[in-house]
Amino acid sequence: MILRPLVAGNWKMNGLRASLAEIEAMGAAYDDALRVRAELIVCPPATLIALAREIATRGGLGVGGQDCHAEASGAHTGDISAEMLKDAGASYVIVGHSERRSDHGETDADVRAKAAAALSAGLTPIICVGETRAEREAGDALSVVGAQIEGSLPADAPAHIVVAYEPVWAIGTGLTPTVDDVAEMHAFARERIEARLGGGKSGDVRILYGGSVKPSNARELMHVANVDGALVGGASLTAKEFIGVASAYV
Ligand code: G3P
Repeated sequence: MILRPLVAGNWKMNGLRASLAEIEAMGAAYDDALRVRAELIVCPPATLIALAREIATRGGLGVGGQDCHAEASGAHTGDISAEMLKDAGASYVIVGHSERRSDHGETDADVRAKAAAALSAGLTPIICVGETRAEREAGDALSVVGAQIEGSLPADAPAHIVVAYEPVWAIGTGLTPTVDDVAEMHAFARERIEARLGGGKSGDVRILYGGSVKPSNARELMHVANVDGALVGGASLTAKEFIGVASAYV
């Protein structure tokens, strides 16, 4: 099946109400030609999700969260459940981003539990994996990512989940892997997703590339085999750059 690519913007800990004007501008630039070729979503900080949802919906964009708790409710001060994100208007949630794994010590098992919680709440999880620079230099990139896929995807996950390959050393650095390295990793990721989920589901799982994607390199990266979209950080903060990235598909 030919997958409709997903271009997802991860705003991380950036954005105040004034930034919603960028989502409005994204909607204005998200024309029919682009819409048929790529799905666009923005994942703002949790404080903006409900407000962003209204503006994004008018422009045809979706909204996602950046993390969720593995439990549905309870005594977890400061945490947000998948159900709360859904209630605020999100349809996706990023789980297992390398910044969550490193800043909050999240393990593959934590990420798997969060992905399962997202699915139970009716959200589509965007499950992040990726090797560090040291792991790549040691020749371990494939084995690290393979183990993360095995450990972070619920074994019974449906085919509509999204997996994002984000090499840690490419995030926010301006560095990107070569297209050959991206092709090798994405083909390998699809094999490992199939081994994990079975039943031919991996063909329908969108595998995003993330790490220093910008308008000037998006076309090259997005047209690598098995790359079904992008998870974009810095370049998703303005409509000009985010639409510039998505325009790789027009
Ligand atoms: O989740 C997206 C991200 O980690 C990539 O960030 O700023 O390198 O596009 P950036």
